[in-house]
Amino acid sequence: MKQMKQMKVTIFGATGMVGQYLVDETIAQLHTARAFGRNVFEVFSTERTYLELSKGYLFSEDDIKKALKGADAVLSAIGGGFDGTDRARSIGMKKIVEAMEKKGPKRIVAIGGAGLLNADEGTFIYEMPGFPEKYKAVTLEHRQAYDHLSSSSLDWTFVCPPIILDAKATESYNTNRNYPAEGNQQITAGDLAHFMVKELIANEYLKCRVGIASV
Ligand SMILES: NC(=O)c1ccc[n+]([C@@H]2O[C@H](COP(=O)([O-])OP(=O)(O)OC[C@H]3O[C@@H](n4cnc5c(N)ncnc54)[C@H](OP(=O)(O)O)[C@@H]3O)[C@@H](O)[C@H]2O)c1
Repeated sequence: MKQMKQMKVTIFGATGMVGQYLVDETIAQLHTARAFGRNVFEVFSTERTYLELSKGYLFSEDDIKKALKGADAVLSAIGGGFDGTDRARSIGMKKIVEAMEKKGPKRIVAIGGAGLLNADEGTFIYEMPGFPEKYKAVTLEHRQAYDHLSSSSLDWTFVCPPIILDAKATESYNTNRNYPAEGNQQITAGDLAHFMVKELIANEYLKCRVGIASV
């Protein structure tokens, strides 16, 4: 007998490296995926079952509103440049949060970076001496995205991965609340997607940051 799809999940950043794993994992975990991005029609087939394509620009309130219509939950893997001039991560998240608070699903699982985890209570890793200069600008973008989420009324989870490898899921990884997880300080995009989709329903890390690492 054909199984029922459980939820419709809008995926921001769906065309990116992690986003494409999120689409596959969403469908594999028996949900319908709605992929959002400027390039969805270039990246995905319109023929694929349980996949809807929503072409759009993150800075457009109308595009985001359309992408959220009828969705039960949201995943975000928004990316962009690394030098801080590309504001997709921060302004994009602000627009998503505002639209979800107005009218939309309440559940979101989004990606940040490992610098946003705690070094100790009250200090982020990126605030510690020795944090690599080359990651500062992008981490400050993630910080703003985190501030938008954490001051919202949404049921948010902010996953803060170390280095992400373009590789499939091993389902062998650790997670940790607000602090880095034990293990190799890297994670496959497949495992990251596996965790994020599972967490949409598991709700084990509501309103917190999550460290994740391959075993
Ligand atoms: N790579 C790592 O080792 C690593 C480690 C820790 C954290 N991260 C974080 O993980 C996240 C995902 O990384 P990734 O490598 O998968 O990113 P990516 O391949 O660069 O993909 C970026 C995604 O963001 C979307 N996007 C960017 N600007 C947009 C805009 N103005 N409107 C609509 N969509 C926009 C792109 O969609 P379109 O181009 O189709 O519009 C694309 O789907 C990033 O935030 C990154 O900082 C990465």
